[in-house]
Amino acid sequence: MAETIIDHLRKDHDTVRDLFGRLEQTAAAERRELFREIVSELARHEAAEQAIVHPRTREAAHGDQVADSVIGEEQEAEELMADMESMDPESDEFLAAFRKLHTAVENHATHEEEKEFPRLEEQFDHDELVAMATHFERLESVAPTRPHPNTPNDPVATAAIGPVAGVFDRARDAVRDALGR
Ligand SMILES: [Fe+2]
Ligand SMILES: [Fe+2]
Repeated sequence: MAETIIDHLRKDHDTVRDLFGRLEQTAAAERRELFREIVSELARHEAAEQAIVHPRTREAAHGDQVADSVIGEEQEAEELMADMESMDPESDEFLAAFRKLHTAVENHATHEEEKEFPRLEEQFDHDELVAMATHFERLESVAPTRPHPNTPNDPVATAAIGPVAGVFDRARDAVRDALGR
């Protein structure tokens, strides 16, 4: 059977869960790369959700309430990540911030799975959910997959995580362009 938006979102959530788990386990020197991968995965996922998933959730019963709260959580997670831009990924400060982010993102994913997905399944039929998956995939694919590399000869920039907010902005811009808005 064709993949529905629910299947696709769950797969994305599991990919992010896997990346978070890997970062906890990996050597400190490799955290930066993995963290940047998490940032770009989340930026693509949330930009596409904000464009075409949460607005549809509003059409369901009590959907506004659910949409508003998950969007608020996305904003919070984005702020937590932006606060990590200047941190050294090998520091304890980074690890503490990362664990806080991990909890926030896990709670957010669970919230969507438990409160948003059932509403979408109630509101839309199978064909609509499949069409949404196709649309979602296309939007995710237009968003940049890798963050801009840091300036190579700047030791501060290479030690720190580097730009985060810009990754989210670029993902949203790309999605907006693709939608012609
Ligand atoms: Fe989300
Ligand atoms: Fe999500």
